[in-house]
Amino acid sequence: MLIAKPVHTKRNTIIISVILTLIAYSNQTAHSQPNTDSVFLFAYSSGNNDYHNGLHFAWSTDKKDWKPVGDEHSFLKSDYGQWGSQKKMMHPYLLPGPDGTWHCVWQLNNQEPIFAHVASNDLIEWGRQTYPMVNESKNCFQPVIYRKDDSYNIIFRNNSHKYFKVNTTDFKNYSKASEVPENQYQDLSSTITLGDRKQTGQIYRVNWPMVDKLIKKAEDSRAKYKLHNEVTKQDPQRFASLKPVSMRLSVESGKAKPISNLLIGAFFEDLNYAADGGLYAELIQNRGFEYTPADKLYRDSNWNAFHSWIFHGDQAGFKIDSVSPVHVNNPHYAVLQTRQPGGTLTNGGYDGIAIRQGEKYNFSAFVKSLDARSSKLRISLVTKNGKRLAQTEIAFSPGAWRKMNAVLHASETVSDAHLEIEPLSSGIVGIDMVSLFPNNSFKKRKNGLRADLAQAIADIHPRFVRFPGGCVAHGDGLHNIYNWKNTIGPLEARKPQRNLWGYHQSMGLGYYEYFQLCEDIGAEPVPVIAAGVPCQNSGGGPRGGGQQGGIPLEEMDEYIQDIIDLIEWANADASTTWGRKRAEAGHPKPFNLKYIGIGNEDLISDVFEERFRMIYNAIKKTHPEITVIGTVGPFWEGTDYREGWKLANNLELPIVDEHYYQSPGWFIHNQLFYDSYDRSKSKVYLGEYAAHLPGRPNNLETALSEALYLTAVERNGDIVSMASYAPLLAKEGHTQWNPNLIYFNNDTVKPTTGYQVQKLYGTNSGDEYLPAIARLSNEEAAVKNRIAYSIVRDSNTGDIIIKLVNMLPVEVKCSIDLMNTTTFNKHAIVTVLTGAPEDRSLKPVSSNIPIENVLSLKLPGYSFSVIRLKK
Ligand code: AHR
Repeated sequence: MLIAKPVHTKRNTIIISVILTLIAYSNQTAHSQPNTDSVFLFAYSSGNNDYHNGLHFAWSTDKKDWKPVGDEHSFLKSDYGQWGSQKKMMHPYLLPGPDGTWHCVWQLNNQEPIFAHVASNDLIEWGRQTYPMVNESKNCFQPVIYRKDDSYNIIFRNNSHKYFKVNTTDFKNYSKASEVPENQYQDLSSTITLGDRKQTGQIYRVNWPMVDKLIKKAEDSRAKYKLHNEVTKQDPQRFASLKPVSMRLSVESGKAKPISNLLIGAFFEDLNYAADGGLYAELIQNRGFEYTPADKLYRDSNWNAFHSWIFHGDQAGFKIDSVSPVHVNNPHYAVLQTRQPGGTLTNGGYDGIAIRQGEKYNFSAFVKSLDARSSKLRISLVTKNGKRLAQTEIAFSPGAWRKMNAVLHASETVSDAHLEIEPLSSGIVGIDMVSLFPNNSFKKRKNGLRADLAQAIADIHPRFVRFPGGCVAHGDGLHNIYNWKNTIGPLEARKPQRNLWGYHQSMGLGYYEYFQLCEDIGAEPVPVIAAGVPCQNSGGGPRGGGQQGGIPLEEMDEYIQDIIDLIEWANADASTTWGRKRAEAGHPKPFNLKYIGIGNEDLISDVFEERFRMIYNAIKKTHPEITVIGTVGPFWEGTDYREGWKLANNLELPIVDEHYYQSPGWFIHNQLFYDSYDRSKSKVYLGEYAAHLPGRPNNLETALSEALYLTAVERNGDIVSMASYAPLLAKEGHTQWNPNLIYFNNDTVKPTTGYQVQKLYGTNSGDEYLPAIARLSNEEAAVKNRIAYSIVRDSNTGDIIIKLVNMLPVEVKCSIDLMNTTTFNKHAIVTVLTGAPEDRSLKPVSSNIPIENVLSLKLPGYSFSVIRLKK
């Protein structure tokens, strides 16, 4: 073995690494290659991590000395139900079929009458998982599978130690479970010693090449894992001897290709209080008294109709009632019963109400005298110390519920005021839908959006906005699927709903407001509708967890009609039923909807496919002008990705939605991801992506890896039509997900470094890609992969835009030969985003540079530069 004093010349480093690779390779092959054509394969679950680690393999030539395949590498994981509490693979049982197909069944949990099945030809790529329901038993423990003639029996026991059998030929249709005697339960598992632990699983004799492939797969995964987990913290070692690099970039004249003009968009989901308490400008929390413990996954008794409201006075004077409400969809309201001197009802909004001196605030509430008396309410905005900053009075008289309006003028700027409602004489009064809006909402819209947040989104210049999610779109269980019809019309008639991120959606920010926002910022609306199935990560429901069997087929026509109605609502004129509703809401002109997403990173199951096909075919038939966006799962690889693409190819879908949250290293080392995509197949909407580091910051390191990757997305802009970073917004103190693009509190918007990257791309996009050849002074892969470029032309302005990313710690001297592509001004504008990798709120700086035949500039270490050559 070579023992060398570390001498850091480039040549020595290469020689040493080649020798080490050879040693590692020879060790590994000596270790792996048996002197026989077939070996024993052992399949098991370690049970570690509460059964979340999935299926592992070990192999042996003699059934005594067992070697693990990878370090407990997981070849298959359960995808049933919620993250954390579910997705368990308990007691997997593997069986090869006569056609070479391997079948695996396993127990999912202790309480549901359900087990799991999946098949594979090579034990590496697995097909769709199914979760057959066995209604005859309470639960399904330790299922085993064996062949019976031309079919398969699956036998399991329940918690009363009764044994049941189901039979199937196709693993789609199962016989009813019948009780069988215990001796029919043929568990052929063995227990072996692996390392220092006993493991139980099944042993089969298989050909060595099969095991060899498993070993190579595990090794490949480990190598990729290492590469993808490269972080800038290692750069001082990785690039210890790196000198500044120079790059010469030459545009390849005549090779320009058209790319999508919709590339950069925004992903909006009501997550992290992005809607209520965020973009939706309503300042009153729980305005409709509709909070309920059921809004929370683990019911919270303090999260109820009284939430956010405090009554100062005799507590008996404040009740919640639901008799004769303003609207059945908003059944609860407050009842104030006061004697003079009476009490005061207060609401502190979302962490206080931020108001600005000199601005107007529009108050409204539904009020009803419940004792047939006339009276008045004093409405005030008050500081913590009791100072009144604005006040007005509203008078009401006996009769039905009436909406009262008033305007409050703020005399000071404070960030933590509260609203007070004070009856001015004795009596009983009902109050509901208490609302306070800044008059100065975005574009001064009624029921509008917070101006500073909406402006921050507009500043990205997104070409489209996707809404309402994300997971919110397909919901936590069948009853939580987002229904757009519940979100339009008068606010009091909208139907609030539990937000699966653990709070309440008032639906004040609904489809009308989303479409209006898109119109106001010049973005295409991209609503995403559930594909007739809830999120596969849903918790348990009456029909089990996960997709819960999907919307029953007999209800699918109605569900599909709702989607067709959405198209009518958005695009038809006021003579139609749904077009009229839009017109009545204040928008007689159509919204010009062009895209609809069906599904959100769903598990591509048979249940999903059946419903997706029904919806897709119906839209295609009734509205061929609408572009349907399909979905290919939550990851960039794996079963859902493969199955989703198979379905997309089969249906010839126009676009599919890909999602991946990955490490910066993944983005650095996967820049060719789309280069090999088949241009004749569906186009791609990269609907959710972000670089994730441990601790989940949004900093220059993550932002640069996204910028780097986006150069590749632009290069592939002929196949990638749209891309949206996710998620967009997060309120400080109410964040369920990190990182996000824009953080905010009640009075400040805090764009991240990643936001600046999105904005630089959004404001500097083009519709033509100009390929170029780069010549680097240092061609090492680690160096090459950290420098990226993209050159586009914007046909609207004729400007050429060059984007350059340097993720190295050293400067890159760059010269760009535009090959007389066109004539330009004498100066170019260069905008540079740079700093330390851990910087979270950097801002780009712009300057002018002279242009000659060749454009020369220095790219600082860790930087993203955008050069705009003005025509
Ligand atoms: O963007 C946050 C979440 O990530 C989305 O709701 C979901 O689609 C994805 O898993």
